[in-house]
Amino acid sequence: MIADEIEKLKSEIWQEFENIDSLSELNNFRIKYIGKKGVITSYLKKLKDLTLEEKKRLGKELNQLKADIETRLKQKEKEILFKEEDKEVGLDLTLPGRRVFLGAIHPLSQIIDELCAIFSRLGFEIVTGPEIETEYYNFTALNIPDWHPARDMQATFYLKNGAILRTHTSPMQIRTMLERVPPLRIIAPGKVYRCDADVRHSPMFHQIEGLMVDREVSFSDLKGILTYFAKETFGEKTKVRFRPSYFPFTEPSVEMDIGCVICNSKGCRVCSYTGWLEILGAGMVHPEVFKAVNYDTEIWQGFAFGLGIERIAMIKYGIDDIRLFFENHLYFLESFK
Ligand code: PHE
Repeated sequence: MIADEIEKLKSEIWQEFENIDSLSELNNFRIKYIGKKGVITSYLKKLKDLTLEEKKRLGKELNQLKADIETRLKQKEKEILFKEEDKEVGLDLTLPGRRVFLGAIHPLSQIIDELCAIFSRLGFEIVTGPEIETEYYNFTALNIPDWHPARDMQATFYLKNGAILRTHTSPMQIRTMLERVPPLRIIAPGKVYRCDADVRHSPMFHQIEGLMVDREVSFSDLKGILTYFAKETFGEKTKVRFRPSYFPFTEPSVEMDIGCVICNSKGCRVCSYTGWLEILGAGMVHPEVFKAVNYDTEIWQGFAFGLGIERIAMIKYGIDDIRLFFENHLYFLESFK
């Protein structure tokens, strides 16, 4: 009976399979059993004289057998290839294992995390928003009307649809104030874009925006919080100074410097021999900005600040070329483990 023959064939096949030891044996086996003119094909042909029911049953069985052989051959082929590779290189179990390389958190991410942690301790909440902005949020609502020369202070990337890439994180002040009611304390880290590129400027870079609004927020709060931030970031002994400055969305406006941490304020190339490094811009929220978000200027006061992450990282780690952050050379990234 053909059914018995098939049973017998199966046991022969698997026995022979066990003895396969090389790729050539494996190939012969494949041709012999599942090749076009192989044993299984010939059995399939033999089925034609059987009853329909038997044809179905045995046909199915043979096809299944064929499929099983195929999968097990593939598996076997891998095993053989591995073995031959070992033979080729001479398997030496005394060799040390392959080293596993650990990744490092990108220095900019590290600084962002660090700064977020510092401001979280002061009760600031982290918010994020879009990098593609409208001129309204990026400029107009921040008291920078169309004609204002400050629009040229930050060379803007315009998109075809009239949108822009945000030139600073300050639009997050507007977005947050429109969404929430005061009091609020937020910081907004993220990417910003300016058409500018050299060793100190990258067309894409990172900022953190800060905003605090409450009934009684004064310039001393601004100074206190930013001084705390400077000392936490650069060390307890860090000196700070505030210089008058100008931003359309703050009044009065300041820039904060820290004593040069590279030369200890003695004067060096990095601080242009001034002993000071500028690290952020800040000021009291301009009444026009509060008006744009419908906050009553008789009730609410606030301060805002913005700082560049790359700049902080460059100062902190003594890096003199901003492009290093984005070229992703392993020797650079690995030094931040
Ligand atoms: N947005 C300003 C800049 O990018 C920084 C800033 C933020 C200044 C908030 C004052 C207040 O230069």
